[in-house]
Amino acid sequence: MAQTQETLRKPVNSRQSRAPVTGTALAVRKQRSFLADLYSTAVGKKYAMAISGIAMMGFVLFHMLGNLKMYLGAAELDQYAEFLKKLLYPLAPKGAVLWILRGGLLAMLALHLHAAWSLTVLNHQARPVKYQSARDYEVANFASRTMRYSGMIVASFLIWHLLDLTFGVVNSVGTEGEFVTGEVYANVVRSLDRWPVAAFYILANLLLGIHLRHGAWSIFQSLGWNNPRFNSWRWAFATAFALVVVVGNISFPIAVLAGIVKV
Ligand code: HEM
Repeated sequence: MAQTQETLRKPVNSRQSRAPVTGTALAVRKQRSFLADLYSTAVGKKYAMAISGIAMMGFVLFHMLGNLKMYLGAAELDQYAEFLKKLLYPLAPKGAVLWILRGGLLAMLALHLHAAWSLTVLNHQARPVKYQSARDYEVANFASRTMRYSGMIVASFLIWHLLDLTFGVVNSVGTEGEFVTGEVYANVVRSLDRWPVAAFYILANLLLGIHLRHGAWSIFQSLGWNNPRFNSWRWAFATAFALVVVVGNISFPIAVLAGIVKV
């Protein structure tokens, strides 16, 4: 017993030279990094949502801008896709930078989903009893419920989208011709020429717009930049950002269905 108490009183590392008040205090203390400590709090999870959200906002904006090249023709869009593969080539091997960017994007997506899920768990723990008034419930939860559902639908769209235009698995279903890696323009036209697919792209992008608008607004709140004086500016930014991405993205299936973009 005397030896156990002696062990508990020993400092766990050299930096911790002062003896704790009780042995128990030291025994339950876990060594965690600053970031892990921060992420275990609701504030830390909100930071994680905001930072990963900003990274993905950057991606969707530049992805849409890059896809505008389809209005310039097949050669331009295909060349642009090739340019992305050759980023920093020959300094870095062909495709290496693109794969690093893909890895970063995937990590951001995983962090965003995990933080959203664990914030929901924290909220349930903090409020195990539901709101008593249906009106309060609606007011308090409308935005967050919309975020959850729009987020889940956009995530399932993304799975379809990758199977369609990156891996080509579903690109040729219900249409003539085959998916060819590198022939990005032809792959896009073949895909969006199918009206149910085009409709799904339009619906998913409308939901992405709702998600982006609320997300872009919330980022400022999560990062603590929420002075009421800037509220109108925040709404203007969030609305403009969501509109630019959605209008650009929705124009692609419409242009293909209308025969403006064709092979
Ligand atoms: C109508 C709108 C869209 C079109 C026409 C489009 C087009 C494309 C194309 C052609 C590719 C393959 C590029 C290549 O192989 O070089 C691609 C990949 C991808 N798209 Fe989209 N996209 C659209 C909307 C979106 C949206 C809304 C998101 C995100 C929510 C998204 C996320 C991605 C991702 C993550 C990839 C994989 C990127 C990579 O592997 O390098 N796309 N998209």
